[in-house]
Amino acid sequence: MDDRNNQLYLGAGVATGEMKRILVTGALGQIGSELTLELRKQYGADNVVATDLRNDVPKDFAESGPYENLDVTEGSSLLNVVKKHKIDTIYHLAAILSGVGEQRPELAYSVNMNGLKNVLDVAKDRGMARVMVPSSIAVFGPSTPHDNTPQETVLRPTSMYGVTKVAGELLCDYYWKKFGLDVRGVRYPGLISWKTPPGGGTTDYAVAIYHEAIQKKHYTCFVKESTVLPMMYMPDALRAIIDLAKADGNRLRYRNAYNISALSFDVAELADSIRQHIPEFTVAYEPDYRQQIADGWPHTVDDRAARLDWDWKPEYDLSAMTEDMLSNLGRLIETPA
Ligand code: NAD
Ligand code: SER
Repeated sequence: MDDRNNQLYLGAGVATGEMKRILVTGALGQIGSELTLELRKQYGADNVVATDLRNDVPKDFAESGPYENLDVTEGSSLLNVVKKHKIDTIYHLAAILSGVGEQRPELAYSVNMNGLKNVLDVAKDRGMARVMVPSSIAVFGPSTPHDNTPQETVLRPTSMYGVTKVAGELLCDYYWKKFGLDVRGVRYPGLISWKTPPGGGTTDYAVAIYHEAIQKKHYTCFVKESTVLPMMYMPDALRAIIDLAKADGNRLRYRNAYNISALSFDVAELADSIRQHIPEFTVAYEPDYRQQIADGWPHTVDDRAARLDWDWKPEYDLSAMTEDMLSNLGRLIETPA
């Protein structure tokens, strides 16, 4: 692409930077099911169009605003939805996560790479204001420093999910540098939430443990007791991506993607925090193929760039998160929707 085309795209897309009509892909997943509702609160229900491959839309979610069935690997369908709803901003969440990605690497490649490319192309061609694409601690690998992992460091993951996430970050930066498309992202740690179950990642144990603690007072964990990973509670995760979307672009030294950090604990510490509320809770350990993925990821990450560039700061610590998880899950399990 030459400079003339570069100018053309900059002129069309980044002129106002206003985010008024938002499309969320993968909106029925762990993040999307909560992020969509938060965006609807902030931007108006009709201005946030939820989309997903799935058809089983929960009733309250369906009633909260517009929904379209959309497979992101089908570029023409994506374009139709974007045109129909006059979309100027995309939060692209549709993806295959690390656990499922190792079982189905072709699917992970197709959804994570082709889906992203379709989103970036539609956004570039339509001159969109912003595209938000979450990355992950999965961009790191066994040869990355595991403690206080720097913003800029070795990105040599060994999982298919990690490979697609590194390639995705690079592709997003390419569209920013070459075409002026304002694509931004955070490297999420493992996310913990109670509203929607996680979608097949390595960090899913940190959610399942709460469910099983309440229901069975026992959990069999698929990673070792000493496994330490960075984690974050969903309210902080939602705030992070929305704040980055709204941040002054002139302050951003990076686009794709910012390290963000909140909590780091091993499974024993997590179990202990649950035992503060359920003293009889026990955990057994039966590590499976996900142990190897977890072993390649950081223990803690350095998020000073995010703190400096767009004032990132987490709010939840382990005990506050555990208290909130158990009280909300307890209610949900007693009175399912
Ligand atoms: P999830 O698996 O819970 O949800 C993904 C959604 O995408 C699902 O609802 C699924 O139906 C949908 N989907 C799958 N294939 C699709 C396709 N071809 N077209 C349209 N939709 C499709 O995932 P999540 O946890 O909500 O993750 C969202 C994003 O955040 C992903 O990019 C993921 O890599 C990233 N992330 C998540 C975590 C986490 O712990 N949840 C951590 C780091 C990064
Ligand atoms: N939580 C995600 C996973 O385990 C990390 O990106 O796949």
